[in-house]
Amino acid sequence: MRAIVVKSWLKSPSDMEVRDVPAPIPTEGELLVRIDSAGANFFDILMVQGKYQFKPPFPFTPGAEFSGTVVRVAGSVNSTQFKVGDRIFGSNPTGAYAEYIAVPALQCFHIPSTLSFEQAAGLYITYPTSYAALVLRAQVMPGEWVLVHAAAGGVGIAAVQIAKALGARVIAAVGSASKFDVCWAQGADHCINYREPDWTNKVLDLTDGMGANVVFDPVGLVEKSLKCVAWNGRVVVVGFAAGSIEKISANRILLKNVAVTGVHWGAYVLNEPERIPEVWDALFKMAEERKINPVVYTPVYHGLESAKDALKAIANRETYGKVVVKPSVLSSKL
Ligand SMILES: NC(=O)c1ccc[n+]([C@@H]2O[C@H](COP(=O)([O-])OP(=O)(O)OC[C@H]3O[C@@H](n4cnc5c(N)ncnc54)[C@H](OP(=O)(O)O)[C@@H]3O)[C@@H](O)[C@H]2O)c1
Repeated sequence: MRAIVVKSWLKSPSDMEVRDVPAPIPTEGELLVRIDSAGANFFDILMVQGKYQFKPPFPFTPGAEFSGTVVRVAGSVNSTQFKVGDRIFGSNPTGAYAEYIAVPALQCFHIPSTLSFEQAAGLYITYPTSYAALVLRAQVMPGEWVLVHAAAGGVGIAAVQIAKALGARVIAAVGSASKFDVCWAQGADHCINYREPDWTNKVLDLTDGMGANVVFDPVGLVEKSLKCVAWNGRVVVVGFAAGSIEKISANRILLKNVAVTGVHWGAYVLNEPERIPEVWDALFKMAEERKINPVVYTPVYHGLESAKDALKAIANRETYGKVVVKPSVLSSKL
């Protein structure tokens, strides 16, 4: 099969090379999946450069999210759970920029009937993160104002859709007006540009001076957001896309009775595994009821050689929703 193979740390993803390698052999409890679509992430860029917290041993194939078709079931995977031909999506620390992946069945789910392979490829990380942030951490209530930062990004779009599905009112904040249309299409009630200096006043105006009840922050805008948060507001720290970790003035938290909280979805598996099925059941129900509808950035990138272009677009902050690479396996044999 063909796969991107990294044999030493790269200067940039544009140095990634596609090679012919043996297809992985699934071991006990694993599925062999023919990958239809791989979800691209900013951390892929860091990983191939050796700058990510997780440094896989060489050689490795980057890529952490995928969707595809089960072609082999190994050992004692419950046959009522997965069988050859099933449409599934899943995640693994590495291996998704390839034509096939062998992955533990525990890290896979069936694709809801309402979603395409492309949509499912980017579901695994973003949607449960945003659901956990808004429901488990912020406990968003119908009618509340939710301010979503980086609202056109992967977790941001998911947060807009989930907040609307929960009956909240959404202010979508993005870094350029060119991303407003994407946010309107997800049901945002208002769009603002957080590169404009007076954006916190805009939030206050839009909420009749009250401020946002909930702030969803994957960027690193907590300090500024505290200027436009409501009494009893909840601010959820989701990430640091702007690149630095903030120091927060505690007096602002006190003044408005604010709760600043965090979400680390990947750590639920160690700390609160019982919440994981609860989150996925809620998301699958929302998908079946078409209350959430993952957004795929266009163009979709065809061929593993185009993964470098996909990652370049993410690095340049050009993208919205999830960026998808299709390995195109039509001519490939195991
Ligand atoms: N806590 C968790 O469990 C969890 C789970 C998943 C992801 N995350 C984190 O959440 C953050 C967003 O992830 P994502 O998948 O939504 O990423 P993404 O799709 O790449 O979106 C990130 C967005 O951040 C905005 N941004 C603001 N300042 C930026 C800067 N200086 N450089 C680059 N982008 C900037 C950009 O939107 P604008 O152009 O509109 O500003 C960009 O599109 C990341 O930090 C990620 O690590 C956390």
